[in-house]
Amino acid sequence: MTTNNNIISSKNFDKDFLWGIATSAPQIEGAYNADGRGLSIWDVFAKRQGKIKDNSKPSHACNFYYRYKDDLLIAKALGFKIFRFSISWTRILPDGTGKVNPAGIKFYHNLIDECLQLGLVPYITLFHWDLPYDLQKEGGWTSHFVVKWFARFAKICCHEFGDKVKNWMVINEPMSFTALGYMLGIHAPGKKGLKNFLPAVFNATLAQAEGGRIIRAEVGNANIGTTFSCSEILPNNPNNHLDVAAANRIDILVNRLFVEPTLGLGFPNDGFALMDKLNFNNKAWRYYDKMQFDFDFIGLQNYFPLTIKHNSLIPIVNAMEVKPSKRKVPLNALGWEINPTSFYNIIKRFATYDGIKKIIITENGACFKDKMVNGVVNDIERIEYFKTHLTSLKKLHQEEKKLEGYFAWTLLDNFEWSEGYTARFGIVYVDFESQLRTIKQSGYWWRDFLTK
Ligand code: BGC
Repeated sequence: MTTNNNIISSKNFDKDFLWGIATSAPQIEGAYNADGRGLSIWDVFAKRQGKIKDNSKPSHACNFYYRYKDDLLIAKALGFKIFRFSISWTRILPDGTGKVNPAGIKFYHNLIDECLQLGLVPYITLFHWDLPYDLQKEGGWTSHFVVKWFARFAKICCHEFGDKVKNWMVINEPMSFTALGYMLGIHAPGKKGLKNFLPAVFNATLAQAEGGRIIRAEVGNANIGTTFSCSEILPNNPNNHLDVAAANRIDILVNRLFVEPTLGLGFPNDGFALMDKLNFNNKAWRYYDKMQFDFDFIGLQNYFPLTIKHNSLIPIVNAMEVKPSKRKVPLNALGWEINPTSFYNIIKRFATYDGIKKIIITENGACFKDKMVNGVVNDIERIEYFKTHLTSLKKLHQEEKKLEGYFAWTLLDNFEWSEGYTARFGIVYVDFESQLRTIKQSGYWWRDFLTK
């Protein structure tokens, strides 16, 4: 393994470059039924046999609900300036729409106060995939009412926390939860097919912009963003026009579908028949104004590139991924390709959108088969991952004025959705039985990077 020594410290970046550590409520909080919290779609989905790899549930996760003070101390000690977390909708509104739960409000006040006391700047994500189960019973993201439900939740959060928190993100990766949860059925709520996916995309696009408008109206001096997943898409054979066209279709879905309407460009099309359906045969434009919001920053989240090949047997997209394991490239523990150059390329490309004013990398990280040996987790692969990606980041920082910050994913090993507790992404190792935390070598690497 090559070690890159070019990157030694955050001093290679501007002083005001934003360094953060990112988390999400359903992955760390646990305490699923404490103090009046209602069930989310993930609590219910995880009960279905075979949906979660290790048959686990997010019920206790990292117990962050009870341990947040100690965990924030770790984030602080490792040198991070920003703590990104999400708000669990069902702690605030147990059934999604009805009565506000004061204990839930109190928890987030405590969490925010603790951040502020420690000098950690809070960045709130309003929605990181844990839709209230009661709202799913009414159709969830496929119901057009979801825009109103979400707006109310957003308003309550802004009203409660807006005096203390100025940095807000509306939605985490709309492409991921609509595709995995409403098209492929492998994430909560486990719905499949275009009849679920297309309305979910449509409503999530509207809710995202509406969330932005609400924060703008409710929170003075707010810095408002939303986050998108992104992946460089490469044709398997660049000289084969079918592969190139297939890669373009996947690019529309993976990279353009949400950002373009948000920027006021409408849904992308490029002759991809699926997009005609999404446009309701040319009627969606009536909503384009409502789908647009002038975000102060866009959060970009990158984990892997995709290599795509034409395959007419695959419905709708006529495309398939050529698995990284077949291409002899470096892999993480989930078999995702590790490629810091593609990280550079895709951020560079998003920077070319005129409508994007600022970019923060709001997630980037990797999971490996970490082992604790004599109390030490020597995760050299993760250190190498961060070194190489921060080398790309440095280049981006020198070239792109728009790039303002980088948040690592993630503080703690946690509930990794359908992978359960089997995929460890943290820079802090969590023993899920004892809830003992052990800072991994990558955590110490971050501390040195940020503080030396
Ligand atoms: C999500 C995280 C997730 C990470 C790794 C991102 O898409 O926002 O919640 O843990 O990917 O899979």
